[in-house]
Amino acid sequence: MSTYAEVYAGWRADPEAFWAEAAKAVDWDRAPRKILDDSDAPLYRWFADAQANTCYNAVDRHVDAGRGDQAAIIHDSPVTDSKTTITYVQLQDRVARLAGVLAAQGVAKGDRVLIYMPMIPEALEAMLACARIGAIHSVVFGGFAAHELAVRINDATPKAILSASCGIEGKRVIAYKPLLDDAIGQSDHKPQVCVGLQRPQAEAVMIEGRDLCWAQATATATPVGCTPVGGADPLYILYTSGTTGQPKGVVRHTGGHMVALLWTMKNLYNVKAGDVFWAASDVGWVVGHSYICYGPLLAGCTTMVFEGKPVGTPDPGTFWRIIEEHNVKVLFTAPTALRAIKREDPQASYVAKYDLSGLQALFLAGERADPDTIKWAQTHLKKPVVDHWWQTETGWAIAANPLGIEELPIKPGSPAVPMPGYDIEILDDAGHPVAPGTLGAIAIKLPLPPGTLGTLWHADDRFRKSYLDAFPGYYETGDAGMTDNDGYVYIMARTDDVINVAGHRLSTGAMEEVLASHPDVAECAVIGIGDTLKGQSPLGLVCLNAGAERSEEDIQSECVKLVRQEIGPVAAFKQCIVIDALPKTRSGKILRGTMVAIADGTAWKMPATIDDPSVLDAIADRIAGLGHPTA
Ligand code: COA
Ligand code: AMP
Repeated sequence: MSTYAEVYAGWRADPEAFWAEAAKAVDWDRAPRKILDDSDAPLYRWFADAQANTCYNAVDRHVDAGRGDQAAIIHDSPVTDSKTTITYVQLQDRVARLAGVLAAQGVAKGDRVLIYMPMIPEALEAMLACARIGAIHSVVFGGFAAHELAVRINDATPKAILSASCGIEGKRVIAYKPLLDDAIGQSDHKPQVCVGLQRPQAEAVMIEGRDLCWAQATATATPVGCTPVGGADPLYILYTSGTTGQPKGVVRHTGGHMVALLWTMKNLYNVKAGDVFWAASDVGWVVGHSYICYGPLLAGCTTMVFEGKPVGTPDPGTFWRIIEEHNVKVLFTAPTALRAIKREDPQASYVAKYDLSGLQALFLAGERADPDTIKWAQTHLKKPVVDHWWQTETGWAIAANPLGIEELPIKPGSPAVPMPGYDIEILDDAGHPVAPGTLGAIAIKLPLPPGTLGTLWHADDRFRKSYLDAFPGYYETGDAGMTDNDGYVYIMARTDDVINVAGHRLSTGAMEEVLASHPDVAECAVIGIGDTLKGQSPLGLVCLNAGAERSEEDIQSECVKLVRQEIGPVAAFKQCIVIDALPKTRSGKILRGTMVAIADGTAWKMPATIDDPSVLDAIADRIAGLGHPTA
């Protein structure tokens, strides 16, 4: 048995040998001979000369190995009061048929397919069907509005769209089809075909000649087999928020993705074939890609697809009920979900009602895990509570506590130590490494490991500019933090204008673009202010054009509506205030950080470079008037 220190040192000594060994867990159609292709550095490609199929590795090979009757997916949906189990052999048939539907429509290797679906097994089947024929999927989170969907349709130019008639948010039914039709109407690119799953809660109106009914089409489809693709061919594009309204299309390559996820299932999460793994996230996020769909299925686990909320569906005991009922071995969720449970059940009386003996560990990611929440979970669950840090870009954990290797001491507030593949440095503004205990930009030495982003979709230059140019030889994470003397990493803040609301990554820049489009708004800023439940929540500050005639209240509520309409409910943009002027430096830079400090009630100093100090005083009064929860 090796220790973490030995495994990490082994990787450092020979990274290619390390990943070549890990690659043996994949069933390749053509095994890799060259592990890392650095001919186009700083763009790297892992396993580029290999051939494999992700769907084969996630589904068919388990059937071939005799696990066909094991549950592959368990759908637990308190919002529809239903539970469904799909075995690996059933999954193979369902996916092969859906892939047949796409193939019959001319969708082939390299074509893009957009997926806009709620938390139902068909969402995973859609992803796997694309992978089966070598098509590149792009899943869009259901909480985004039509405009955001249109932006992604234009960028990915999908030949087909797979969707469902509705999603269910607590007690509300959200019709997806009108949003999809609106998005296609807004986009310049038009898909050739839309395959729509009718759910009884809200049947969709189909458009003759373009839309196909999922149930009918799959019932009559000819099942198709798996198409081998190149190791560095894209498996999927996943859009994530950046500094502007134009999201970044993170490209995930086929081979490295499988190698890395398989490594994590064993070494990080400590699960094996047959275990039940539950990532309580959404397929629209990277956690859903890696650990609702691909990771558990590649490893032959049973994956939980949960359609509900941590509270209110029906109570704060739902997570614990599911763990007991389905014998969940590992739960992975965002700290927000635990905060929501803790708020409704501070004494954890619901925890005591269920038998959680099968639960091995709880993993947290997506946002900073506050020590109070970690301690609450440790106290009541009596299991290791593991914070781990990663990003859409990396696809798997940069820093974690690798339970499959050894359980390192847990330090609440830190997502522990770098995983093999990641050489983390904390850099100062000039790009020089700083000493432990000193804050700086967190960067990772190139090359990034397998499974991380290869590039941005059709935007190599933007990839370089966004991530590689700031610190030559490094990938810039966009997070700031420090390490301690034991090599533990601490993630403190973002260095860009990304905020994290309930574990959802959002761009304040994108919200500002929407506010600026309001006819009465002359100037605006959006800041992320502390929120006891969601971690952060956005606050809009707008200055009006001279002569704006409507009342401030009307304009504020129009701004709130506009962001919801353009970005979607996920933005959780509920507060906007009209102010006379934005606080700026003499060179015109908006003092966002100072406004956040005022809103959060933390210590702040009047910046020496401020143009007009009275502007900040006026804003402090307005923010105090909001009754902000952390103030
Ligand atoms: N489709 C449509 N709308 C969606 C949606 C989806 N898939 N997901 C969220 N929304 C809507 C919500 O209904 C809500 O709308 P509202 O403003 O009309 O109430 C809005 O988007 C904001 O959602 P959210 O921030 O998630 O808040 P919430 O009040 O619905 O739930 C929590 C609060 C804490 C229970 C919830 O955020 C949660 O479970 N968080 C866990 C986070 C998580 O899994 N993150 C993934 C990264 S690991
Ligand atoms: P996303 O791309 O949506 O997964 O969001 C990634 C960002 O979320 C990171 O860059 C961090 O800012 C934040 N994040 C994710 N996990 C953690 C964590 N464990 N601790 C602190 N911040 C985190």
